[in-house]
Amino acid sequence: MKKSNSFCCHCLIMVFFTCFLPASSQLTSDFYKTTCPNLLRIVRGEVQKAIKAETRMAASLLRLHFHDCFVNGCDASILLDGSDGEKFAFPNVNSARGFEVVDQIKSSVESACSGVVSCADILAIAARDSVLLSGGKTWPVVLGRRDGLVSNQTGANSALPGPTETLGNITAKFANVGLNITDVVSLSGGHTIGQARCITFSNRLSPADSTMDASMMSELQTLCNSSSDGNKTAPFDRNSVDAFDNHYFQNLLSAKGLLSSDQILFSSDGATTTTKSLVQSYSNNFDLFMADFANSMIKMGNISPLTGSSGEIRKNCRVVNS
Ligand code: HEM
Ligand SMILES: *[C@@H]1O[C@H](CO)[C@@H](O)[C@H](O)[C@H]1NC(C)=O
Ligand SMILES: *[C@@H]1O[C@H](CO)[C@@H](O)[C@H](O)[C@H]1NC(C)=O
Ligand SMILES: *[C@@H]1O[C@H](CO)[C@@H](O)[C@H](O)[C@H]1NC(C)=O
Ligand SMILES: *[C@@H]1O[C@H](CO)[C@@H](O)[C@H](O)[C@H]1NC(C)=O
Ligand SMILES: *[C@@H]1O[C@H](CO)[C@@H](O)[C@H](O)[C@H]1NC(C)=O
Repeated sequence: MKKSNSFCCHCLIMVFFTCFLPASSQLTSDFYKTTCPNLLRIVRGEVQKAIKAETRMAASLLRLHFHDCFVNGCDASILLDGSDGEKFAFPNVNSARGFEVVDQIKSSVESACSGVVSCADILAIAARDSVLLSGGKTWPVVLGRRDGLVSNQTGANSALPGPTETLGNITAKFANVGLNITDVVSLSGGHTIGQARCITFSNRLSPADSTMDASMMSELQTLCNSSSDGNKTAPFDRNSVDAFDNHYFQNLLSAKGLLSSDQILFSSDGATTTTKSLVQSYSNNFDLFMADFANSMIKMGNISPLTGSSGEIRKNCRVVNS
């Protein structure tokens, strides 16, 4: 590690201890120090294997943590099987992925330290590692979440932001879980990796959305030409689909955002001075983006965690303990 990296790491730790911990829950970075000392190494190894097998998995794991935290807090409720659960809510069905990888991580963790590590914490660590292993920077992930007993489908349908919503509506959904407009912009930078299906952006293709770059428009119109193409996917970041960099923001400056909810941060009437200037700053300062992204990820990971004797430590991430 170079000197600048360790310095930045100290900054993040300081930000975290001075601004964050006192205001929030009992989550700590050394929660499993005695009960599962190798936890972070085990998860890192499994995430590394999964990304090696399929690069896109980094994106899918990052998104799982986000979709978990916005619904009943970060309690692994998205992992529960059942057609009446979150997996089958509109934002997740045929879309959320990575569940088998989470099972694999959980099984390795259980072999080393049975019955102590929550599925919710595994999601938080896997998201952090996915960003790092894709070329992003790391942050001190806080732990101690417990797993929820319910999966809330109606909650997922209402709490998760949709790709055609207005910036005002998206901002309101973030505010509902204690996240502000800086968090909206920095966390949207998660869209520097991964892919989206035609049906999530086809609203922009006909009639052609004038805030989209013309050559990108015609490529996407070809890709998504027929209604049977709804499940085809396009990369969020056409320059470097698998790299966690700040191209997402550079793309917004050149009208190459994929979803409506991406491009509106910069181009729409709804874009505010704040969102535009954050997009501009992140586009030419990767370290600033990463510092804000890390801060926002820690905030997101602290949404209503179950602690103490609330919830449980699930044995199998897909079902509540019997
Ligand atoms: C700001 C509001 C957001 C909206 C409207 C939104 C919407 C979407 C949509 C529609 C997709 C494609 C899903 C599909 O094709 O089935 C997607 C994918 C993705 N989202 Fe978001 N998202 C938002 C915020 C976030 C945040 C906060 C993160 C994480 C920090 C995130 C991370 C991702 C990733 C990594 C993917 C790609 C997943 C993959 O390739 O498997 N998104 N998002
Ligand atoms: C489901 O989620 C909604 C919105 O997030 C929340 O208001 C509601 O209390 C939740 N219901 C349950 C049973 O947890
Ligand atoms: C924004 O939220 C309001 C109030 O919930 C709703 O009526 C409206 O349809 C939403 N707009 C979009 C574009 O989703
Ligand atoms: C959002 O919250 C962070 C602290 O987490 C703060 O640094 C930032 O200034 C806030 N953004 C706005 C626009 O208030
Ligand atoms: C879309 O598909 C139709 C046939 O279904 C074809 O005639 C048309 O040329 C296609 N358009 C593009 C842009 O590929
Ligand atoms: C996309 O895939 C799902 C799951 O296989 C299927 O139910 C749906 O009909 C497909 N959508 C389109 C437009 O082909």
